[in-house]
Amino acid sequence: MAPENPFGEVLEDVRSIPPSVLVIFGASGDLTRRKLIPALYRLFHEGRLPASFSVIGNSRTSFSDEAYRQRQYEDLQRFLKDTPLEEEEWQRFAKRLFYIPGDMKDPALYQQIGAKIDALSGDTPHEVVFYLSTQPSFYPLAVDMLRESGIHRGAAKRRVVVEKPIGHDLESANQLEEHLAAAFDESDTYRIDHYLGKETVQNILAFRFANGIFEPLWNRRYIDHIQITAAESIGVEGRGAYYQEAGALRDMVQNHLLQVMATVMMEPYTRFAPGPVRDERAKLLRSIRIYKPDEVLSHSVSGQYGHARVGGEDLPGFREEEGVHAEAQTDTYAAVKLFVDNWRWSGVPVYIRTGKRLPKRVTDVAIQFRAAPKNMFAGRGEQDVAPNLMILRIQPDEGISLRFQSKRPGSGMRLRPVGMDFNYGSSFGTRTPEAYETLLLDALAGDPTLYIRQDMVEASWQVVMPILEVWRNTRFDFPNYAAGTWGPAASDAMLAQAGHAWRRP
Ligand code: BG6
Repeated sequence: MAPENPFGEVLEDVRSIPPSVLVIFGASGDLTRRKLIPALYRLFHEGRLPASFSVIGNSRTSFSDEAYRQRQYEDLQRFLKDTPLEEEEWQRFAKRLFYIPGDMKDPALYQQIGAKIDALSGDTPHEVVFYLSTQPSFYPLAVDMLRESGIHRGAAKRRVVVEKPIGHDLESANQLEEHLAAAFDESDTYRIDHYLGKETVQNILAFRFANGIFEPLWNRRYIDHIQITAAESIGVEGRGAYYQEAGALRDMVQNHLLQVMATVMMEPYTRFAPGPVRDERAKLLRSIRIYKPDEVLSHSVSGQYGHARVGGEDLPGFREEEGVHAEAQTDTYAAVKLFVDNWRWSGVPVYIRTGKRLPKRVTDVAIQFRAAPKNMFAGRGEQDVAPNLMILRIQPDEGISLRFQSKRPGSGMRLRPVGMDFNYGSSFGTRTPEAYETLLLDALAGDPTLYIRQDMVEASWQVVMPILEVWRNTRFDFPNYAAGTWGPAASDAMLAQAGHAWRRP
């Protein structure tokens, strides 16, 4: 099917998706309103959902189908981007939304859901995706209840999608896994990391493995170091209570940024298929050096933002946010210096940083190449000859750029860095699908390539656990950066120690 999208370009689906029912637990929550329903609506608008497709939402709040639809309509008006919300089309979409209120502890709820799935399926067995988007503490219960009710199995495939966080630490991740494994095969368990669904992150694979010219340079002989930045200008946006327990290292590094790192640094796979791609990702994650406690503080920096006045606006410090303890030791900024101990990457530092209330929203990966072996132009640059830099821009302003030296016009040999730039928007002239569109469609199609396998979850926790533990036993002098700045000075010092410096994106 090759439907038109509103920009006139074509978004193609090469797969056919079977008749399906999507059951969302946590259907009145934030993720459902902001991400899942808008993603489904866009897929519907573009004709990318199967002809027979329904959503069953559940949460404790009592709504009729009608009231639930009305609420989704209001939320779509707020959160739907790049897609028109027209009455006639909305009415056709709304007919596919159903709602069953109920307590996840109540076995009767699952019987009702099962009966609804049967009614919606009619004579054609429908595949079912159970999407867990509740508070994470309910995941084990939901999975157990699905298993006990028997609705985790059916005449057609039934799968489960689990939202992040997958555990609060290695131990709880393993406990959750016991519940999941008792109910679903690994191949039917889809752990989401929405960064893997971002077009620009997927494009890293195309960039590396569909071009012959970059991969020969992609190793310790040519690359000096790598910087991965995920900066957010927002604060904790009403999620103070959750975030206080999580912190930046858990919230962003353990999952999203280690996955980005694996995508940039993994070995080529033999075939673009779930098994080989995920094997390589997992192998890379397992090759990241795990620090001993006495190595942690020289390889990591924890930060927390304090109050500041920026552009005439008063930005509260983290400890002044709603739901946050006045002496919270939470990291709202985390930076780590990692190494991948394998032949390709031995000795190449990988710096990762992320934080709330930084000066701007930007996520990118900067690959800094080694300098030319001899500088024949000493003193002729605006700075000394700057090394080549490749920037994979994940968001916003999606694209890839390469910095190299050029001669400045005029007499004499004076140099300046210039850039070659690929820009997603202008090259394809189409809207970029949101990560949740891609990932929902993949789950419905039964394609787990961009989902996380349990061995990847474990490997990532193994990397961050020693850091979390040392941080937990350290009393940091917080706040240590002002809202609207690039994080604590200690972070600059960590790079300076190896002669490096953070880029200012
Ligand atoms: C979520 C984190 O997983 O990712 C949030 O819990 C963060 O704290 C968000 O803001 C960032 O996602 P994106 O897609 O906006 O970069």
